[in-house]
Amino acid sequence: MSKNNDELFKNVISHAKEYGFVFQSSEIYDGLSAVYDYGQNGSELKNNIKTYWWKSMVQMHENIVGIDAAIFMHPTTWKASGHVDGFNDPMIDNKDSKKRYRADQLLEDKITRYEKDGKAEKALALQLAMDEALKSENLASLKDLIIEHEIACPVSGTRNWTDVRQFNLMFSTQIGAVAEESDQIYLRPETAQGIFVNYLNVQKTGRMKIPFGIAQIGKAFRNEVIARQFIMRMREFEQMEMQFFVRPGSEMQWYEYWKDTRLKWHKALGTADVKYRYHDHVKLAHYANAAVDIEFEFPFGFKEVEGIHSRTDFDLSQHQKFSGKKIQYFDPEINQNYVPYVIETSIGLDRMFLLTLINAYEEQDLSEGDKKDSRVVLKLHPCLAPVKAAILPLTKKDGLPEKAREIMDRLKLDFNLTYEEKDSIGKRYRRQDAIGTPFCITVDHQTLEDNTVTIRHRDSMEQERVPADQLEQIIGSRVSWKNLL
Ligand code: GAP
Repeated sequence: MSKNNDELFKNVISHAKEYGFVFQSSEIYDGLSAVYDYGQNGSELKNNIKTYWWKSMVQMHENIVGIDAAIFMHPTTWKASGHVDGFNDPMIDNKDSKKRYRADQLLEDKITRYEKDGKAEKALALQLAMDEALKSENLASLKDLIIEHEIACPVSGTRNWTDVRQFNLMFSTQIGAVAEESDQIYLRPETAQGIFVNYLNVQKTGRMKIPFGIAQIGKAFRNEVIARQFIMRMREFEQMEMQFFVRPGSEMQWYEYWKDTRLKWHKALGTADVKYRYHDHVKLAHYANAAVDIEFEFPFGFKEVEGIHSRTDFDLSQHQKFSGKKIQYFDPEINQNYVPYVIETSIGLDRMFLLTLINAYEEQDLSEGDKKDSRVVLKLHPCLAPVKAAILPLTKKDGLPEKAREIMDRLKLDFNLTYEEKDSIGKRYRRQDAIGTPFCITVDHQTLEDNTVTIRHRDSMEQERVPADQLEQIIGSRVSWKNLL
C-alpha cells in the first residue's frame, strides 16, 4: 500500500469509529480479533445496502423469492457440501513465537517483497511453485518453499517451523443439554446451503418454474486465521447470496446474464467504472464450470467483493445423495426430470459496506485566502445515506425549535431524520457532512413568517429557500429507490 493509500485507509477506519459506523467488538475488554459491531450510523447504512440488494434481486425479479434459513443446520449438510473435508487453509506454526500463519499468505508476502525489491523473476518462480503446491495440495512442498526462501516468523524472527497442516475454517459447537449425548454442529460458513436444502420446499410451495432463484441475507462464520484489513476479512460476517436454478445446458447463458447484471448493480451507485473489474477464476473449484469475481480497487489493491459461480448440479446432487430424498425438477417444456444446475451470486455485505465507505470518503480543503477551513464529507448515494435529512432550528429560542419539531414530526415516518439544536449552524453542517446526510433543513425567523426553510445540499454546499410543505417531495425524489432500480 502506498503511503497515501495507507493513510487514507487509516483515516477511513478512524472516521468509521468516530462517527458511529463501526466499532471493535467488545472494545471495553480490548476487543475480539476480526469481529466488529456496527454502530448507530453503520447499522442504518448496512440496512440500506441490504434493502438495495433485496429490492433489486427479489422485488424486481418475479422469478426470485427470498428466505431466511437458520444458522444451525443438520451436520450432514456440511458433509454433503464438502465443507467438513475440504474447507481448509494450509497452516504453519512458528515453534518459538507459537504464532500460527497461513502458509500461502507467508509465501504471498514474500512474493510481494521480491516484487518491491525489483526481483521479478524470483517472484514469478515462487508464485508458480506455490500455485502448483496448492493445486496438488502438497503441504510438504509448501513448507519446503518457506524454508528455501528463508521466510522468518515476523514475531520471533526465527525459521523454526512446524510442518504445514490443513486447518478447517468452520466453527463448531454442541447441540443438546447433556454433554455426553450432544452432537457436534457447525455455525454455517456460507448462507448458500440453507438455500439448497430448502430447494424442494420453496419450489413446491411457491410453485416455482425453472428458471427461478432463491435469495437470502444472513450471517456466516469462518475461523479465519489471518484476519486483517478491518472488516474485509472477519470471523463473523454477512453474505447476500442468490442461487438461480436453471435447465442443464443453459447455465452459461445465465452465468453471463448474472455477471453483467451484478456489475450493473454496483455501478448504478455512481462508482467510477475504473474502480471495478472482473477477475476470472483460472483454477476452478471441483464443482464449478465457470467462476468470476467482481473486484473493487480498495486502497490496498483490487480485491474481491462478489463472486458469480456456475456450480453445476453439484450441491443439489450431493444433498440428494446424502439425504436420500429425490431432488429433481419435472420440466414440462421438455417433458424431462433433472437435477437443476445453479448459478450463484454471492456478495459480502461487510465488504460492500467498506467499499461504500471508502468510495464516499472525501477530505476537502475549503480554505479561502487566509481563512483556513476544511471538511470531511461522505458522498454517499442518498438512498444509502444513514440519515436522509437533519432538521436544524437556527437558534434555541423564539419558537424555532417548536416549528422545527413540527416539520420533523410530519416527515419522520417517511424518512430517517435527525434533530439538532446545539452548536453553531456551521458546526452542525460539518457533523452531518461527516455522516453523509444529503440535506440539512434550517428553520429560521423567516420560516415563522412565510413557512419557508433553507435546504442545504451536502455535496455542493449550496442553499436554497423552499416552502416547508414541499420537503416531502424534494427529499422523497432524491432518496427514492427509483433512482437506482
Ligand atoms: N457461497 C459461496 C461463497 O461463500 P466465497 O467467495 O467464499 O463464496 C462470498 O464468499 C463473498 O463473501 C466474498 O466475495 C466476500 O465478499 C465475502 N466473504 C467471504 N469471506 C469473508 C470474510 N471472512 N469476511 C468478510 N467477508 C467475507
